Amino acid sequence: KWNSKANWFPKHTSCLPLDRKSRPKPTALVEAMFQLPPVDDYHGCKVPDPYSWLEDPDSEKTQAFVNAQNQLTLPFLEQCEIRDIFKDRMTELYDYPKYSCPFKRGNRYFHFYNTGLQNQSVLYMQENLESKPSVFLDPNTFSEDGTVALQGYAFSEDGEYLAYGTSASGSDWVEIRFLRVDGAVPLEDRLERVKFTCMSWTHDGKGLFYNSYPVQEGKSDGTETSTNLHQKLYYHVLGTPQSQDVLCAEFPDQSKWMSGAEVSDDGRYVLLSIQEGCDPVNRLWYCDLNDVPQGVTGLLPWVKLIDNFDAEYEYVTNEATVFTFKTNLEAPQYRLINVDFAQPSISQWKELIPQHDKDVIVFATCTYSKFLFVCFLHDVKNVLKMFHLSSGEEIRTFPLDVGSIVGFTGRKQDSEIFYSFTSFLSPAIIYHCDLTKETLQPYVFREVTVKGFSPADYQTTQVFYPSKDGTQIPMFIVHKKGIELDGSHPAFLYGYGGFNISITPSYSVSRLIFVRHLGGVLAVANIRGGGEYGETWHKAGMLANKQNCFTDFQCAAEHLIKEGYTSPNKITINGGSNGGLLVAACVNQRPDLFGCAVAQVGVMDMLKFHKFTIGHAWTTDFGCSEIKEQFDWLIKYSPLHNIHVPEADEAQYPAILLLTGDHDDRVVPLHSLKYIATLQNVIGQWPGQSNPLFIYVDTKSGHGAGKPTSKVIQEVADTYAFIARCLNLSWIE
Ligand SMILES: *[C@@H]1O[C@H](CO)[C@@H](O)[C@H](O)[C@H]1NC(C)=O
Ligand SMILES: *[C@@H]1O[C@H](CO)[C@@H](O)[C@H](O)[C@H]1NC(C)=O
Ligand SMILES: *[C@@H]1O[C@H](CO)[C@@H](O)[C@H](O)[C@H]1NC(C)=O
Repeated sequence: KWNSKANWFPKHTSCLPLDRKSRPKPTALVEAMFQLPPVDDYHGCKVPDPYSWLEDPDSEKTQAFVNAQNQLTLPFLEQCEIRDIFKDRMTELYDYPKYSCPFKRGNRYFHFYNTGLQNQSVLYMQENLESKPSVFLDPNTFSEDGTVALQGYAFSEDGEYLAYGTSASGSDWVEIRFLRVDGAVPLEDRLERVKFTCMSWTHDGKGLFYNSYPVQEGKSDGTETSTNLHQKLYYHVLGTPQSQDVLCAEFPDQSKWMSGAEVSDDGRYVLLSIQEGCDPVNRLWYCDLNDVPQGVTGLLPWVKLIDNFDAEYEYVTNEATVFTFKTNLEAPQYRLINVDFAQPSISQWKELIPQHDKDVIVFATCTYSKFLFVCFLHDVKNVLKMFHLSSGEEIRTFPLDVGSIVGFTGRKQDSEIFYSFTSFLSPAIIYHCDLTKETLQPYVFREVTVKGFSPADYQTTQVFYPSKDGTQIPMFIVHKKGIELDGSHPAFLYGYGGFNISITPSYSVSRLIFVRHLGGVLAVANIRGGGEYGETWHKAGMLANKQNCFTDFQCAAEHLIKEGYTSPNKITINGGSNGGLLVAACVNQRPDLFGCAVAQVGVMDMLKFHKFTIGHAWTTDFGCSEIKEQFDWLIKYSPLHNIHVPEADEAQYPAILLLTGDHDDRVVPLHSLKYIATLQNVIGQWPGQSNPLFIYVDTKSGHGAGKPTSKVIQEVADTYAFIARCLNLSWIE
């Protein structure tokens, strides 16, 4: 029966390759599974989907499956010797103060601060930088267990009102609430059904723009899978019920479009940026508020400055009608242009800062009215430069170590900047620069060190290794100084590879514990698909080129082996979301190359992802199975559809741990559930497999944003305990 359906998949991606005699026969159970309905027809190709019942998160069967999986996984984790030791050490080393850059709103300064182990960071207020900060908004009070997080905020122009979003259990759903800043008085206004929202006040302080979705059938708490379409832009007038909010933009014929409004620095214009997926391209419409003298009372008369999805246009600032945008139009590494709204034709556009050779512009911001601060990415390291807004002339480069700028504050009306620097071995240095001074000298405003961990004992190197097609891929490697390159070290290899996201150096206590106490080598590969070298790099790892991400990642592992850092059975690969897809695809393609794989909140069903929640927005990177040509790309690597018994006699699948959360409404848990079910059935029952295949589904947990510290600590303790047990690593004091 099975053989007659062998043409369900293209040969090389056959899920159960019975055609090869060398491979063990699947068990009767596996065979039976594939004879069950439902089978989906994609362009004449029949693809079985035996675990589609796991797509209903509320069915008793699904809940029983999740419980059974957790009951299998938890005892295994609990028996890992390292688990408690890791958790204790993590709790100790994570307990250092975490500060954000200060920022000024109205006459007051604000900053976020976490004493160390607080579940959520707290917003503090100060009259000036020298005065004692007081607690202004404490998200730890939002819930008993720390699972309600702050998700976005916006102060009114005069700094007298704050709008802030809260999200529960890691869901993308947000509720917007309001405070009067003086005395932190809560207001009654509440905005619901909010997701992927902008928050921008009109300068008169009357209200703000935000986005919400139409009421949907069934629940909306983040455990549902229903698709998010027809997002709309509203204006909320402070002190009125949400039911009276003004609809400002909607796109009835374009259900996937999502918009964001931003009020210009001078308060006169509303800029509307429209995206239809995750590609770095947008339409740019605007409204001159002078054209609506009676205020925002209905759909705004939008002027469609850019009405196509050819390039990205990000508002930087404007001087009267001359607008500065950061754009990738004819500049895959980005440049700044000036567009005069009074003479908007393309031929009149002027280049302000041209595209730099190899460096990518990450952000640009106008401070102290006359300066532009532009952050570049140069071979995956940030560089901060300062320019004149009027001429685009470069003034200076701010000195920075190898690492990342993770925070920058300083707006047009401010006369100072703060920026926060981090790297693999340094948690945070916040710099402050007063722009009113004759000589601009940034000084260290705050530097955080971690007790009990000495950075001098470790080293970070950046290598460039060749991928299969010869492309040079950057990779950071962190390890204890002076290790022997004898192939003996366990390695933790992390990657993402998608959506124009650059993986820049970051400080991770858990990874450093792996290096310090498990004798590990940490490697972060900047594979294609990310934004490390601009849109060219992104495009080289998406759609028909998606395989490049997986190949680059496998070549990273091979490089680490070749250079003597590690060996295949000592490598753990890790990634989340699109990186979970990366991990699972690589495990299918090269089971022999890794000893352990931890895939978090991964996209595993590449044929159906677009049907759930916001999945449709990812077709810009992945394509969509509804289009024949794109189906042909997806079926070749979709983790769910490429699980097969390894070819080489001695090879087996690495030890696998999947992690997800019941409230992940970004990448819904069904991806991981269907993948583990198939994995356990096809690989788990194969006699050649002795490495474990596990999933853990956390409760009151989502895609990652806003996760309380207590959950973060438990998750990394579980992860590294699993790795240590599966790779037989012992704790080094
Ligand atoms: C964080 O939340 C957990 C419960 O989720 C609680 O046990 C713990 O005490 C909280 N941590 C702090 C520092 O308040
Ligand atoms: C894409 O990445 C570049 C470089 O980091 C950045 O400037 C740009 O804003 C990104 N675009 C989007 C839509 O994220
Ligand atoms: C695990 O490590 C211990 C001590 O390091 C060693 O004695 C044992 O043989 C190892 N087991 C395997 C399966 O590698």
